[in-house]
Amino acid sequence: MELLVQGKAQLRGKVEISTSKNATLPILIASLLSEDNIKINRVPDINDVEIVKKLLQNLGSNLARNHEELNIRSFISNIYPDYELVRQIRASLLLMGPILATRRIVKISLPGGCAIGTRPIDLHLKGFEALGARIKMRGGNVIAEARELRGNHIYLDFPSVGATENLMMAAALAEGTTYLENAALEPEVVDLANFINCMGGSIHAAGSNLIKIEGRKKLHGCSYTPIPDRIEAGTYMVAAAATGGDMVVNNVVPEHLKATTAKLAESGAQVEEGDKWIRVRQFGPIRPIYLKTLPYPGFPTDMQAQFMAYLSHTVGSSIITESVFENRFMHAQELTRMGANIKIEGRTAIVKGVTQMSGASVKATDLRAGAALLIAGLMSEGSTCISNSHHIDRGYENIVDKLNAVGARIYRQ
Ligand code: EPZ
Repeated sequence: MELLVQGKAQLRGKVEISTSKNATLPILIASLLSEDNIKINRVPDINDVEIVKKLLQNLGSNLARNHEELNIRSFISNIYPDYELVRQIRASLLLMGPILATRRIVKISLPGGCAIGTRPIDLHLKGFEALGARIKMRGGNVIAEARELRGNHIYLDFPSVGATENLMMAAALAEGTTYLENAALEPEVVDLANFINCMGGSIHAAGSNLIKIEGRKKLHGCSYTPIPDRIEAGTYMVAAAATGGDMVVNNVVPEHLKATTAKLAESGAQVEEGDKWIRVRQFGPIRPIYLKTLPYPGFPTDMQAQFMAYLSHTVGSSIITESVFENRFMHAQELTRMGANIKIEGRTAIVKGVTQMSGASVKATDLRAGAALLIAGLMSEGSTCISNSHHIDRGYENIVDKLNAVGARIYRQ
């Protein structure tokens, strides 16, 4: 699948932001914690959600979609999620928590590496052991087994989003109280905690670095709407600034976009905020800036590639440091094919602004790299052909329609 992007677009208008991929995926998986009916509203129509829905069905859940509503009723009859599905998405790792918590045993294939690094799972496994599970590795699978799960005080060496979410789900049905110290603060972690509490869970201080989880015997059904997608919103905001446009992103939580908004303003964009919308305009030249990705509330690693595309076309050099993943600059070589001048030194990229980018045939290596190439294509002279564009459809609902509605000319071929 390829996307053909006509250059020199100027994006003007309003985009409705969809529900967050990185909130929806763990929430769908957390629905396994109850055998009652769960209703998740405004589920985004993206490939990663389709894969997680297949994983839930593979485990024994019944799913019924009614427009944007998804009804889930789970009875886990399988403790070994399908390998072919698991290998497609790292978020499948989050199945460990609920299956271990309800069936006391889970077997799952180890996640393969992916374009942005090895992405180990040591923090997840160390946490499960602290809750009383025994961990075994066998034939490319990890098996976690526990006679019972008992609350404990777990310190995370790194504020891992996935480890925080996995352990929160396991602890929700454990005996006693669990503390997750140095937990991730991301809004998607808070949303998962709110969802589990909506199911009758007892999770306190999510969004701080010390989360308290009081285990419950059972959790009941509920109806829940996850938060809007702050990374989708940030991507459109950068696209507007990169094309000298004027765009409003609607259905956002501005608080979740503070770092992105601050760095856009620092680069010369005009940013205005309402209670559920943000307007971005770019009049003059884009100013070079320093960027360092950090766990929330620091600058999000999921916005790094998009900013690298944006900063490729400035007067002066920007410095981008990727401190969260060890190999998340794959998009740099593709941007170079479009005329960008980028030098990578370890975890730092020096982006020397150029006066003109030109369209080329490029390859998306992961979801956010694909979004960065889209932005670069919109900024460049001529047309750009993006191959492997299925990466983009993993996390951006209707991105071609949404961009074409505000002045882009993008065609699937
Ligand atoms: C989540 O991934 C997001 N995915 C990622 O978004 C996001 O980039 C990442 O958090 C950081 O914000 C979802 O929410 C589905 P981590 P996750 O565990 O949970 C290391 C996107 O584009 N680590 O916080 O996998 C790891 O190697 C995706 O939407 C360990 O060392 O991220 C990485 O360097 C990409 N051991 C760092 O922590 C572990 O046990 C951050 O990983 C776990 C993680």
